[in-house]
Amino acid sequence: MDKTILVTGGAGYIGSHTCVELLEAGYKVVVVDNLCNSKSDSLSRVEEMTGHNFQFHLADLRDMAAMQLLFKREKIDAVIHFAGLKAVGESTEIPLAYYQNNVGGTANLLEAMNEYGVKDIVFSSSCTVYGAPETLPLREDFPLQAVNPYGQTKLTIEYMLKDLAASDADWNISILRYFNPVGAHPSGEIGEDPLGIPSNLMPYITQVAIGELEELSVFGDDYDTPDGTCIRDYIHVVDLARGHLHALSKLEENPGLIIHNLGTGQGYSVLDVIKGFETATGKSIPHRIVGRRAGDAPAVYDDPTLAEKELGWKAELGIEAMCRDAWNWQQRNPKGY
Ligand code: UD1
Repeated sequence: MDKTILVTGGAGYIGSHTCVELLEAGYKVVVVDNLCNSKSDSLSRVEEMTGHNFQFHLADLRDMAAMQLLFKREKIDAVIHFAGLKAVGESTEIPLAYYQNNVGGTANLLEAMNEYGVKDIVFSSSCTVYGAPETLPLREDFPLQAVNPYGQTKLTIEYMLKDLAASDADWNISILRYFNPVGAHPSGEIGEDPLGIPSNLMPYITQVAIGELEELSVFGDDYDTPDGTCIRDYIHVVDLARGHLHALSKLEENPGLIIHNLGTGQGYSVLDVIKGFETATGKSIPHRIVGRRAGDAPAVYDDPTLAEKELGWKAELGIEAMCRDAWNWQQRNPKGY
C-alpha cells in the first residue's frame, strides 16, 4: 500500500482512532489540525502505538495559503475530513464560528483539492442531519432536517458535496453519517478528551466513575420509551474508524457520491448505558433523574443495512466493549492527555 491519506482533524477523537487503523492497514498518513479542540499528544500516542511516524501540519482549513502549501508539499491521494466544531449548544451561541469553520473550512479544503487534482474524499457527517426522526430505524433516504446550527453546517456541507459531485464526474465522495461514537482504543492510549465538563453521556459517566464529577444527571425519564429515558445508537469508535477504511476502498471503484449511516442498529436507553457500564467495569454510577434537555429526540437509531451491503462494513463491538474501553482510557488518563 503506498497511498497517502490526508486526515483533517486527525488529532481529535475519531480522527486519531482512524489514523491508527489507516497506519495499521499500511496507508501513509498526513494530518492537518489547528488543535483548537484537541492536543498533539494524541498524535504522538498514535505514532508510539503503531510504530509509524507521519507528517503533521499545524494549520487551519480556513487558511487557503496553508492548504495550498500542504497539497503542494505532500502527495495526497485521498482525504478523510473530520475537522470541524461539534458542540450543539455552543453552535446556538456562536453560529458564525460554526459556519466559518465547518462550511468555510470545507469549501477551502475542496478548492485546494480541486486545484491539486485530489478528488477522493470521505466526509464526517452526523445522524443529526435527520433532525427529530418520526420513523425508525433511520435509513439514508429519509428526509433531512437541521434542528440547530451545528446540524445545519453538516447539512450544508452535504449539499455542497452533492453539487460538487454533480459538476464533475471525477469526484468520488463518501458521506458518512455517524450515530453516537463512544469508547476508546482498547490499549487505553487514545480516547475522548473533552474540554471542561463533558456534555455527552459516556465521558460524563467515566468522569463520575473516576471521581472527577459527583453524579450523573439523567435528562428525563418521561419519554415514550420502555424505561422512559432516551434511546441512542452508541457505536464503538474503533468500529467507526474502520468504517472509514471501507469507505476509502469503495471510492476506488469510482462511485461518484455515496452516503452511508454508520451505526450498530441497536438502541440503548440512558439507563441501559449506566447498567452496561456498571456491569462491564464493576463501578457504580450515582445518578439522579432530572428534567429533559432541550432538543433531545426520544429515540434515534440506525438501519445499518446499506453500509453492510455496499461497504461490506458492520459494527462488531457491543456495549460491553464500549464501556470497558471508555473506562480503561479514563483510568489510564484521569485528566485526559
Ligand atoms: C449529541 C449531539 C449530536 C452529536 C452527538 C455526538 C445534541 C442534542 N446532539 O448527540 O448532534 O452528533 O452528540 O456524539 O447535543 N444524557 C444524560 N445526561 C448527560 C448527558 C447526556 O442523560 O449528562 C442523555 C441525553 O439526554 C441523551 C443521551 O444521554 O438522551 C445521549 O446524549 P449525548 O451523548 O449528548 O448524545 P446526543 O444528544 O445523542
